[in-house]
Amino acid sequence: MPIYLKKEEVESTVHKAILSKRSMGLVPTMGSLHHGHLSLIEKANKENDIVWVSIFINPTQFNDPNDLSRYPKNLEKDYGLIKNICEKIKIFSPNEKEIYGKTPTLQKYDFKKIDVELEGKHRKNHFNGVATIVSKLLTLIKPNKVYFGEKDYQQTQIIKKLICLENINVNMIICPTVREKNGLALSSRNNFLSNIDRGNSSIIYKSLNLLKSNFINSNLKSLRKNIINDINKKKNFKVEYLEIANAETLQIDEKINPKKQYRAFICVRVNEVRLIDNILLN
Ligand code: PAJ
Repeated sequence: MPIYLKKEEVESTVHKAILSKRSMGLVPTMGSLHHGHLSLIEKANKENDIVWVSIFINPTQFNDPNDLSRYPKNLEKDYGLIKNICEKIKIFSPNEKEIYGKTPTLQKYDFKKIDVELEGKHRKNHFNGVATIVSKLLTLIKPNKVYFGEKDYQQTQIIKKLICLENINVNMIICPTVREKNGLALSSRNNFLSNIDRGNSSIIYKSLNLLKSNFINSNLKSLRKNIINDINKKKNFKVEYLEIANAETLQIDEKINPKKQYRAFICVRVNEVRLIDNILLN
């Protein structure tokens, strides 16, 4: 079994690791692990003497209580998957009290508007919740490197800002999105999809690629509109947003500046399941 540690044990293990100058990597997760998570853990395992995986379904980042209560939990299975990578990986799967004390409280940050665009528009305070937990984990574990997935690109930009705001000494590593054969980005929520919906979800990544291949020469407004219509035509599918945004500020610029990088961001609701994805356009 991988080593599971309580908060006090984490503190003393971290202390010893720092004294012995061993490098540490942290992969924060909410569990229900899939190959996307495992790719981050494998990379961390190659690059560090000690690897920590945290598994914690963080209540403060859920604005919808139903979404929180039905978030999938598979701790025993997760332990097994981590063990297959390396027996020595350390797991921190705390309870709510260990993290928040009596009541989970949200820290509010000034993220210069990147927290209120895209996902932030549809999930109020989500990114303050993400930053709250990541800040607590970084303070506790003090890793040299922390690993995040490009699938949640907006989250990576928030963490970048958080590291700056709190002056945390850590190197953030962003890892590529792992996908199913049909292009659907792996997500713990994909298990809620029916086989038919899962198959039809290939339209999401196809649409992002269509925007990418037409980014320079096309009328993006009408292309975007057509893509939204095509997705919405599929049974059970509803586009929540499809936006082209500046990759750094996440603002939707009126005019494309060829010197800047742009990304397309999409969220599609398939029945009640929210699927998000993004792609670099230039
Ligand atoms: P969770 O959704 O469990 O994701 C944990 C990490 O795995 C994130 O960095 C996420 O971007 C990455 N990930 C998810 N799907 C991926 C895929 N298909 N390919 C590559 N990486 C993928 O993101 C969170 O948890 C939470 O917000 C957290 C950061 C743990 C804070 O609670």
